[in-house]
Amino acid sequence: MNERPNLPNDLDAFWMPFTSSRAFKANPRLIVGAEGCHYIAADGRRMIDGTGGLWCSNAGHGHPKITAAIQKQAATMDFAHSFGQSHPLAFEVTSRLVALAPGFDQVFLTNSGSEAVDTALKIALAYHTARGEAGRRILVGRERAYHGINFGGVSVGGLVANKQQFGTLYPDSQHMRQTQLPENAFSRGLPEHGAYLAEDLQRLVDLYGAQRIAAVIVEPVAGAGGVLPPPKGYLERLREICDETGILLIFDEVITGFGRLGTAFGHQKLGVTPDLFTVAKGITNATVPMGGVFARPGIRDAMMTGPEWMPDLFHGYTYSGHPLACAASLATLDVYRDEGIFEQAAKAALLWEDMLHSLKGLPGVVDIRNCGLMGAVQMEVSATVGERGREVYDKLWDRGLIVRPIGDNLAMSPPLVITETLMAEIADHFTSVLKR
Ligand SMILES: Cc1ncc(COP(=O)(O)O)c(C=O)c1O
Repeated sequence: MNERPNLPNDLDAFWMPFTSSRAFKANPRLIVGAEGCHYIAADGRRMIDGTGGLWCSNAGHGHPKITAAIQKQAATMDFAHSFGQSHPLAFEVTSRLVALAPGFDQVFLTNSGSEAVDTALKIALAYHTARGEAGRRILVGRERAYHGINFGGVSVGGLVANKQQFGTLYPDSQHMRQTQLPENAFSRGLPEHGAYLAEDLQRLVDLYGAQRIAAVIVEPVAGAGGVLPPPKGYLERLREICDETGILLIFDEVITGFGRLGTAFGHQKLGVTPDLFTVAKGITNATVPMGGVFARPGIRDAMMTGPEWMPDLFHGYTYSGHPLACAASLATLDVYRDEGIFEQAAKAALLWEDMLHSLKGLPGVVDIRNCGLMGAVQMEVSATVGERGREVYDKLWDRGLIVRPIGDNLAMSPPLVITETLMAEIADHFTSVLKR
């Protein structure tokens, strides 16, 4: 029997996300299996999944309890919508989710991180409107931020390549400066310098007036911009400014949610509580698409001012609370709890930090950053930005390690169940590739 799945013979029809079709076709990288912290490539090689899928397979791939829950739900009730009706699993999963996040009462369910971000931004606008402050229309983001690819998220995002093909986007968006400073190179965990960069929000308040600003959104640890942990005191200062001005503080926890920093949510580790926060990815261990927005008490209630029958928010997705996603999420939350996955991550993060920083001194490495089980090795820029990053990524792939190239950064976010032995293998791969 042929154990290999059939491979496609036409690579043209799938218009791939964030991919150069020409480069892919010249060297197609196909994955056909996944198990624990490993992928199986089409040529049969077992590869280390250094990126936990795409910052999302937190409990490792193919967990049998999650798989079984999805299979069971598909056979019981494939779909029911939640527009004015619903099904018990949606209530059960959101109750379980808010129980993990003291200080938050509701979760609005979406299908992805991008949808969660646009939902959070719209909730912020609607909240101010409901309270008679419809003049608050400015949404503040940050340079080098990634908030997904929908209109709102790209508007407040800070990656030029993601913006330049699309024109104006949301017209009332503003940006704070990014937080990577040369004096913080090779910091372990949160860098010392840069809390003052939070004053950029105060400057926007001084420039436009707080009565025109609805919300500020940041990733607690910027991920797809290159893994940038927040400078010590930075998030605290943002919180202070928001408290003084009535601006809503939104954390985009699509990556930092579900144990990535060793606590259920990143804000718990970092000690700063936002008003709204987004999640996705690890919410179902990436098995069925799902995202969500957590809201602190009072935000939804502010919108319940119309007639009894009137929706709180004129917003929602056909698949908000999809039964398969809810079943996957419930099983995932069981696994996180029963197997102590967040606690494991907190312990593994210490070894992770040591392993990453042991790469300091390898030729071409100009910075190493880490926070929880996130990390990046930054290479010196060669002739063109990103060229060196891609070259190292290619070589690591060929050796059996998958990382994420972001410009000249090699970003990693392994499954939270990564072992010390696998971390040593990752270090070996980097050492062999960079020493040559
Ligand atoms: C911080 C952050 N927000 C939003 C998103 C978008 O999530 P999705 O790709 O599920 O739409 C991502 C994806 O990586 C992310 O890292």
